[in-house]
Amino acid sequence: MDNSLKNVISQGLASFSNIFSVDKSASSFLGIDIGSSAIKVVQIKKKNGKAVLETYGAIALGPYGNSDIGSVTNLQTDAIVQALIDVMKESNVTIRSGILSIPSSSSLIFTLTLPDKITEDKLSSIIPIEARKYIPVPIAEVTLDWFVLPKTSESSENNTLNQSEPQKTIEIKTEVLVVAIHNDTLTRYQEILKKTEIHSDAFEMEIFSNIRSSFSHDLAPILLIDFGASKTKLSIVEEGIVHVFHVVNRGGADITKNIASALSTSFSEAEKLKRSVGLDLNSNPEVADIVKLSIEYIFSDANNVVFAYQKKYNKNISKVILTGGGSLIKGLMEKSVSNFHTDVVYSNPFSRTEAPAFLSKILEISGPEFSVAVGLALRQLL
Ligand SMILES: Nc1ncnc2c1ncn2[C@@H]1O[C@H](COP(=O)(O)OP(=O)(O)OP(=O)(O)O)[C@@H](O)[C@H]1O
Ligand SMILES: [Mg+2]
Repeated sequence: MDNSLKNVISQGLASFSNIFSVDKSASSFLGIDIGSSAIKVVQIKKKNGKAVLETYGAIALGPYGNSDIGSVTNLQTDAIVQALIDVMKESNVTIRSGILSIPSSSSLIFTLTLPDKITEDKLSSIIPIEARKYIPVPIAEVTLDWFVLPKTSESSENNTLNQSEPQKTIEIKTEVLVVAIHNDTLTRYQEILKKTEIHSDAFEMEIFSNIRSSFSHDLAPILLIDFGASKTKLSIVEEGIVHVFHVVNRGGADITKNIASALSTSFSEAEKLKRSVGLDLNSNPEVADIVKLSIEYIFSDANNVVFAYQKKYNKNISKVILTGGGSLIKGLMEKSVSNFHTDVVYSNPFSRTEAPAFLSKILEISGPEFSVAVGLALRQLL
């Protein structure tokens, strides 16, 4: 493991959003999101203090592993390298300096609750010990990073149930958001960078890139949903800080697989049906029903996450932001509104960048898929 990298990451989670010793003389930056089904790249230039979109592109990874477009892959490093070289060439990426995101599937994010008396300097010895309970591999094999969450009052369980009883004291605890990344993952990502000759000083967890490009100045709690091909990532973010992170092991590719097996058709045919029908019962009730069941499975997990948060902090979610290619399923917006009973919006990351007006519609539609890549590129110029 490269020691310099380890140091950067262990400086605290804040370093995840400030990892780069940003080369201010360079004016263009690349964001690279290696998802389970596709790689997305975004090149942004800084001009007169503004972020100008130079180019962007995506490439499906399926064909690099002899499988279909949209399928979830588990490719060798060399295949990823080839796909990254291809997508950069096809989308006319001109620079070789950027940031890669670390997917949630290659990392663990959890919250530790520690006694309030622990001082900041003791955290570095206590967190690795406490984190052991959450990490299924020897602690020496992972790189840890953490961020002490701002103090919030947790409402004690009973105080809202029985109004006649005197209110219980509100407990104030130290909560720490911890990120653990397997060292092998970091080594693999460094190898990808080396083989593609991309200069990079660090990585960023995809959730933090996603927040940067999807949020405005939102303070109230927001549920951010990243609906990927393999997994759906749920985060509750308050004042720009992740308080809760949860991964549902279902994504867009599972819906395609379900359609393929129910209709005894190929993955690629099922993928087309999923995209054209979505949740629209009128166009194809059989397909729409399968999509609906899969979405309801994910929403049921999301509801549990939201409920646990409401119960713990006595606060409601003020908005839901949809990101990830899977969120483009037809009818998902309406379904989300009726499930969460709150405002639901699509992430519009390209709205942070300047681009020719004629592209605005297409950029808005592709936005959710590129949230992570845009966030990575933006980080280097903000
Ligand atoms: N218009 C659409 N309608 C329905 N589904 C879509 C649409 N466009 C893309 N998808 C789905 O989005 C998924 C890919 O999304 P995304 O690119 O965000 O995934 P990923 O980043 O590769 O996956 P992960 O984040 O899980 O690693 C695929 O399952 C694909 O079928
Ligand atoms: Mg993704």
